[in-house]
Amino acid sequence: MTTHRGMSAEKSLTSRRAARIDTEISVPPDKSISHRAVLIASLSNGTCEISNFLEGEDCRSTVAAMRSLGVKIESPEPGRVVVQGCSGRFSQPAGDIDCGNSGTTMRLLSGILAARPIQSRLTGDPSLSKRPMRRVIGPLGLMGARLTAEGEKSCPPLRIEGSSELNGIEYRLPVASAQVKSAVLLAGLASKGETTVIETVRSRDHTERMFDRFQIQSKREEIWENKNLPARSLVEIRTTVQGGQVPEAVDVAVPGDISSAAFWLVAAAAQPDSRLVVKNVGLNPTRTGIIDVLFRMGARIREVIETNVQGEPLGSIDIKGVRLRATTIQGAEIPNVIDEIPILSVAAALAEGTTVIRDASELRVKETDRIAAVAANLRLMGVTVEEFPDGMAITGCPRLKGATLQCHHDHRIAMAFAIAGLFADGETTIENVACVDTSYPGFAETLAEFIGGGAPARSTPVPVAATAN
Ligand code: S3P
Repeated sequence: MTTHRGMSAEKSLTSRRAARIDTEISVPPDKSISHRAVLIASLSNGTCEISNFLEGEDCRSTVAAMRSLGVKIESPEPGRVVVQGCSGRFSQPAGDIDCGNSGTTMRLLSGILAARPIQSRLTGDPSLSKRPMRRVIGPLGLMGARLTAEGEKSCPPLRIEGSSELNGIEYRLPVASAQVKSAVLLAGLASKGETTVIETVRSRDHTERMFDRFQIQSKREEIWENKNLPARSLVEIRTTVQGGQVPEAVDVAVPGDISSAAFWLVAAAAQPDSRLVVKNVGLNPTRTGIIDVLFRMGARIREVIETNVQGEPLGSIDIKGVRLRATTIQGAEIPNVIDEIPILSVAAALAEGTTVIRDASELRVKETDRIAAVAANLRLMGVTVEEFPDGMAITGCPRLKGATLQCHHDHRIAMAFAIAGLFADGETTIENVACVDTSYPGFAETLAEFIGGGAPARSTPVPVAATAN
């Protein structure tokens, strides 16, 4: 039985062995795209309707933040949001802007506010209050904005003295981060001259795709070299946006979130003879690393790109389970699977051999230290884990032990270990799982259906206007 009690921090989630998986599901709307749709629609010059919007706590924080800046946003029904863009002419917020648990809200919003003549103070919950903001303070300061972190080690609250006189910059990202890239590009949109962000490792590109959708003039150059023969390698990606632009209002339909699908993909991949089809899921190549990793681990996968929802590929993933085998996840692949490492660590625990994850020190500054949290929980389930500063070596274990686990208020840790519980002897209980609602409202119900062997009934609507566009 799965329990999901109450609405307080007392809520816990219990899972146990699942029946054979043979079903088709849809997953909630993409979190990254939902945030960006509200933010860029707010900057636009008119009415934008966002369909299949993620009604999770993180995206609600973005909506509340924009409302506190005077943007009119209505939600006529769940999953539909209508934003009256104000061409970026925000009003002074009456008080602090609470970004909740959402790093994406705080970092992207800091880019937007840096370039507006507004004074603001961005706050967050205890987890967000421990996340580093120097990575946005640095480049936005170079552009001429004044940002100060009030917390220790450049952590929130974040005070922003914005200016409509920012100068465009050329900025080479010191860490592969779509949030930092997006913050700088969003500031560049309202700055003087051109702003270029250079990345040497590719991170998710939803902001750039949404710029195209909102008719924002920008350009992307990829530089490849073949100095490491025989393969050519990516040297850098340069994304440039012209300053002084107002996005053209347009409607946005959000695809399903592959990071939410990842939990069920692993549940199916690690169960021999199972079969799962995930429909209407975003298949942006900067996010599909999970498919490559599970493929290397032996799962049989068919990915079908069926259409393109306003610049974002959409389709289905059909996966068949096997006895998984270990792999190595490192280097340029890491940003593509950064949110999937907790659940891929569970896949590693169920695989034959030792999986090595390296170059992933960013995991230490997510909603919690995800390397420490994953290692501690896997050990409680009987798995051998060696921890490195930038990753882990996880040796697969034929039988996981049920355990009582902490998720440290991190939604992806909670969900990853609920899936581990499907493969464990006895019961696995994850405590304090209210955080799951930040990205996956309805997760507990779908889990209960997997355990019960029924086809999960919950499905999200197919994005409207899911046509080539
Ligand atoms: C996100 C980017 C990633 C990811 C986060 C969402 C985004 O963070 O971990 O969940 O929407 O831009 P970083 O860009 O900091 O790696």
